[in-house]
Amino acid sequence: MHVFVTGASGWIGSATVDELLAAGHEVTGLARSDASAAALQAKGVQVRRGDLDDLASIRDGAEAAEAVIHLANKHDWSNPTASSAAERAAVQTISDALAGTSRPFLLASGVAGLTPGRPAREDDPNPHHGPESPRGGSENLAFEYIDRGVHSVALRFAPTVHGAGDHGFIAIIAAVAREKGVSGYPGDGTNRWAAVHRSDTARMIALGLAKAPAGARLHAVAEEGIPTRDIAEAIGRALGLPITSIAPDDVQDHFGWIGTFFRMDLVAASAMTRELLGWAPMGPTLIEDIDAGGYSARAGA
Ligand SMILES: NC(=O)c1ccc[n+]([C@@H]2O[C@H](COP(=O)([O-])OP(=O)(O)OC[C@H]3O[C@@H](n4cnc5c(N)ncnc54)[C@H](OP(=O)(O)O)[C@@H]3O)[C@@H](O)[C@H]2O)c1
Repeated sequence: MHVFVTGASGWIGSATVDELLAAGHEVTGLARSDASAAALQAKGVQVRRGDLDDLASIRDGAEAAEAVIHLANKHDWSNPTASSAAERAAVQTISDALAGTSRPFLLASGVAGLTPGRPAREDDPNPHHGPESPRGGSENLAFEYIDRGVHSVALRFAPTVHGAGDHGFIAIIAAVAREKGVSGYPGDGTNRWAAVHRSDTARMIALGLAKAPAGARLHAVAEEGIPTRDIAEAIGRALGLPITSIAPDDVQDHFGWIGTFFRMDLVAASAMTRELLGWAPMGPTLIEDIDAGGYSARAGA
């Protein structure tokens, strides 16, 4: 199958592209820079140049492919409204391009805020509707197109898709620990984060492309919820730093924007995804990855 992948050069995207190529798919990746284009070409991926705001390029890429996997995201944490608007516009553009084709459209989503107080399940609808909501309400926007002949599938990622080389949330929390000289956890540290290894995530996406029915919500979740205190203890061990509770009122000041997420209980189940796809996570756990030194190097080192 010819698959158009946005975010093909990213953390999840590059591992996903490797899975797709290994499965015999032909891949075209969206690249916004010479460096990303060269990295994709080096592994035999065709390149479509374009930024997320270049909706004509995204539309043409979607129209020319037999399936689309959308993983690009601006991740501008200083301006989440702009990231969400770009996300929604890209999802709208891809959905319009695929309308009436029955072609698969797999799009990135998350588990934050789905079911406060209990683990999110695959049959829990996403409560985020409309442009003002998290991720621009893009999961529901894509699902609105199922009736218009798009084979939409949501990829709900755990808040940490971890592994050596990760520059995501856990790497940022480790950077805060280094900067502050302590590895902190919010309050009593009993709020939890779901987690999944990058290799398992990429495998789940490739299986989802092959097997998931329209409307499926796939949970890339290997561990349902790890207490943030355990995460902070592992980071403290790895960096040789003291471990401490950060009072709830001080979380934002101590952690900065990542505190908004680190204080949340972000738990999710994945039994239905495992059953549907025959997927079984095999990678190391988050704590094993931290203990193995995957988060000990400084960013860019
Ligand atoms: N990693 C996680 O733990 C996690 C958890 C939950 C949800 N997610 C979601 O999963 C998706 C993939 O995440 P990721 O961790 O792989 O992200 P990432 O490593 O930051 O990669 C982002 C990708 O998007 C591309 N990109 C960024 N801004 C762009 C722009 N303006 N125009 C075109 N392309 C642009 C990047 O291109 P360059 O390579 O050129 O920079 C890169 O390929 C995102 O939607 C993310 O929000 C990730």
